[in-house]
Amino acid sequence: MTEGWTKAQRERWPLLVSRLDGTWTPPPNDAMPMEARTALDNALNDVVHAALPTQEEAFTRERIVANLTPVLERTVRGAKVMPFGSASTGLVLRHGDVDVCVATPSDRDQKRLVRDIARALRDENYVAIQPITRAKVPIVKCRDAVTKLPIDISVNNTLALRNTELIRAYVDLDPRVRDLVVLVKHWALHRGIADAFGGTLSSYAWTVLALRFLQSASPPLVPNLQEGTERRIESIDGRTYDTTIAQGESLSCDHSLGGLFAGFFHRWFVEHDWAGKVVSLREATEFTRKTHGWPSPKPGPIDVLQGRSDRTGDHVLPIEDPFDLEHDLSRVVRAEGWADIMEEGLRMWHGLVNGIPLVQLLQTVEHAPLDESPQGLFDDLRDRPRSEVERMLREARDAQTKTQGVLDALIKERERTIALAKAMRGTYQVTKGMSEEVLALVEALQARAMEMKLHQDHRDGIDEVAILPMNRILQELERLHRSLTTEVGIDNVPSLQHEQRDFARFLAVQAMHRSKPTSDASHAAYVELLRAQRDDVKRLGVLHLEAESGPDSRLEEVDLKAVRIRTGDVDEYDRRANRLSLLVRDHRRERKRLSREVGRLEAFLRNAQPQEGRGRRGNHEGHRPRRTRVDVAEVRQRAFDGGTISLEDLGALLDDGGLTGSIGTPPTRTRQRDTSSKKRHSQKRTEGTKQRRGNEARGKRGSR
Ligand code: UTP
Repeated sequence: MTEGWTKAQRERWPLLVSRLDGTWTPPPNDAMPMEARTALDNALNDVVHAALPTQEEAFTRERIVANLTPVLERTVRGAKVMPFGSASTGLVLRHGDVDVCVATPSDRDQKRLVRDIARALRDENYVAIQPITRAKVPIVKCRDAVTKLPIDISVNNTLALRNTELIRAYVDLDPRVRDLVVLVKHWALHRGIADAFGGTLSSYAWTVLALRFLQSASPPLVPNLQEGTERRIESIDGRTYDTTIAQGESLSCDHSLGGLFAGFFHRWFVEHDWAGKVVSLREATEFTRKTHGWPSPKPGPIDVLQGRSDRTGDHVLPIEDPFDLEHDLSRVVRAEGWADIMEEGLRMWHGLVNGIPLVQLLQTVEHAPLDESPQGLFDDLRDRPRSEVERMLREARDAQTKTQGVLDALIKERERTIALAKAMRGTYQVTKGMSEEVLALVEALQARAMEMKLHQDHRDGIDEVAILPMNRILQELERLHRSLTTEVGIDNVPSLQHEQRDFARFLAVQAMHRSKPTSDASHAAYVELLRAQRDDVKRLGVLHLEAESGPDSRLEEVDLKAVRIRTGDVDEYDRRANRLSLLVRDHRRERKRLSREVGRLEAFLRNAQPQEGRGRRGNHEGHRPRRTRVDVAEVRQRAFDGGTISLEDLGALLDDGGLTGSIGTPPTRTRQRDTSSKKRHSQKRTEGTKQRRGNEARGKRGSR
């Protein structure tokens, strides 16, 4: 196998390749003593807190769902919009997407609904809209235009709702469940191996692996929640699923978070037999590939990486979905993704055993599909004085009122234009309350429209045959007459065919000559009537459809120059009505944007300018740096010098490691974590797990 790897591959997957070569063996489980694992607790807790969204970010997510709901309900009639995935299980990361399921009783094709949704989102405040109809579950991917947070929308994804329920039930058993899953997801995301579309595993698959590990830890932390005598059997999309979720309790055991975290890596990357076993959360066991009917992939990922094949077979890392037993969560894993996953797992285990700082082990890789920083809803407001935000709110409200005014005027103008188009066609209806004068006008318009139609039809009927205008007819008659009557010499006798053709043409043009005057007369009558019709339409507009005060001044705001009525023809009215419809749509959108902006500014002011990072402990290299206006080094110096410091200064100082942070050295988060004293560790180690479990009520944590 040694020869099969290129230099670049050896550099990219050093541990994996040397393990496969047999030149390196991963350290055994007892290479990392229990104390070393427990010593990780504080740092891991910091990572968990930094990985979870702040209150403000959680609020932002709720607003995104609240804004999206009416759009989806409008698009898919009778639909119910339900959030699912990590936002509903308490496992959402700051960079995690917003998952929303549209549940509809309609049996319309899922793919079509997905396309309809994508189309509807284009008219709203969303960007990067991408319908993905070829996936197992068709979805629309998009981003909220303000926060840029990614959103996944799926239709009738009932199984996802069920597995969300199952994961939630596991999370509710014990706070360590959430902490471990968040750590695993955070690690996988930052190391670039939580990307189902990129050929690695989905966050969901990592969640299942973490839960399965907790079931199988020694002793187990969680039971199997799919056991029990009372079963829930459901029919979903014509297939039957056992979606039983049992009540369960945490199995009391005193695993530390560090112990669980390290155990996870040893379990899946050293101990587990991926070549022979399938991971099953449902059965709380690993059964053989043969039992499940999921044989080893042929060709395997190594065949692909070494150029013997283009594509791996199925079941690269077999992980059974807890409800859809035919769904292998590794279906999406490609050869390179497999190698990345294995390398990362081995790297973490090797790093933990060798005491490599977590900061380094969790460092974000360049290709991680992470946004630089998910934008908070209030990011642009945080640094502004309250008075300025109040001014922004006043301006937004004024703009809202103005937009509403223009919108009202546009709607009125569109109705008027459509009415005038109808009047031109003679289809404007007589309604109650019309004055005598208007009534007479409408009746005259109707009668004249009918007359116009008769003349038009007559003219067009003739013109279909008599295609030449009168002057051309006369010229042609003269030419043909000359050609047929001119004496011919012996040397230029026309052919019989030629003469016959000219003669036939002469008769046809003669017929045109006879009928053309009646067509012209009809046309002249039509034009005369059209003129009268236009005049009456104008009068109708002034008398009945236009306010006496004249055109609405609010329309000066919008550009209607291109669609002025010049000739008064009916298609001019149609074009103007279409343009007005587009403007109405734009102004509705703007009104919606402004009303969201007003809501956002009001919420910001109501919450008295929430502080960034509130409710979070510590910080961590590799995470988004805190947004702060405070020069921490300067504040630290000032505090040392005995100067005064504000609350904001104090907050920033504490965030950055406190007074002992690092005068004279850059106060980086790496240093902060590395310089934490042994004393702090040993104190916290003894208190750590017990205190956390005892004191941190689940409700409190959940409210983050
Ligand atoms: P994600 O993979 O996005 O998981 O799938 P997540 O935990 O929500 O991850 P992030 O951190 O927010 O990105 C979202 C949901 O989609 C369903 C599950 O309900 C999961 O919770 N899902 C996903 C499946 O049912 N099957 C899959 O193969 C993947």
